[in-house]
Amino acid sequence: MEYNNLIVELADDIITLTISREKALNALNKETMQELNHFFTVEALQNKSLKGIIITGAGPKSFVAGADIKEFLGLDADAGKEMAKYGQDVFFAIEQFHRPVIAAVNGFALGGGCELAMACHMRIAGEKARFSQPEVNLGLIPGYGGTQRLVQLIGKGKAMELLMTADMVGAEEALRLGLVNHVVPQGDEVTKAKEILLKISEKAPLAISKIISCVDAFYRICEDGFAKEVAEFGACCKTEDFKEGAAAFVERRKADFKGR
Ligand code: CAA
Repeated sequence: MEYNNLIVELADDIITLTISREKALNALNKETMQELNHFFTVEALQNKSLKGIIITGAGPKSFVAGADIKEFLGLDADAGKEMAKYGQDVFFAIEQFHRPVIAAVNGFALGGGCELAMACHMRIAGEKARFSQPEVNLGLIPGYGGTQRLVQLIGKGKAMELLMTADMVGAEEALRLGLVNHVVPQGDEVTKAKEILLKISEKAPLAISKIISCVDAFYRICEDGFAKEVAEFGACCKTEDFKEGAAAFVERRKADFKGR
């Protein structure tokens, strides 16, 4: 399949997958999500000698700046639920992929971008990487698993704080919190990810895929949490606050929330 928003590069049996919508800071529009779905559920499965996948963002500024907010205008509760469910399923396909998947975070990882990084098995941050779940600024909650995976990775107290304040954390703080595995000089994220994948590729492949599925099994207790996130994301989409939040972003002004 030809992709409009993904660049797929294969070298040394490792695929570097670049999310490529630089003008929108690589925001995940519907088409990009469909392409990610196709890549992980069809294309990548066909490569039998694959050692692993690295996901990164195009350009110097952003990994992924979230779901595409410009597609939010007009989203109602049902469409919101459908969007969140689809996104969660795509990210489950990444999380459950049988070969290691590493996020090489080269800049902003916000909202759906932070959620994409968290669905990967590991995260390497460049020094300028910035992480946040800013959905509350839009009258929303995360919809692609952020309320669940942020808690899994950094614990309840700090996750509550970041989810409710929408604070952005830099690479060193993300390392301290356990949100990322390593911080490297800006521009070295893919190289570091590749180094880890090559080390893993010397181990027994079947054992590696069983590590992935067993570690995943530990977190299946969160299934209800993911379903609740879909329902509440949809519920947010029918509020006045969500309409105000999305409109305020597009109009480049501060949102005026009324709690309705
Ligand atoms: N969706 C759509 N477009 C986006 C975008 C997004 N998430 N993030 C950035 N862009 C676009 C901007 O609209 C702008 O486009 P135009 O030039 O056409 O106006 C372009 O990318 C560059 O962005 P800025 O001019 O805003 O760049 P900046 O350096 O001033 O700010 C930023 C960078 C802090 C990342 C800012 O763009 C921003 O706050 N973006 C939104 C981040 C966000 O809220 N993400 C969460 C989305 S909701 C979500 O993801 C829900 C979920 O769980 C699924």
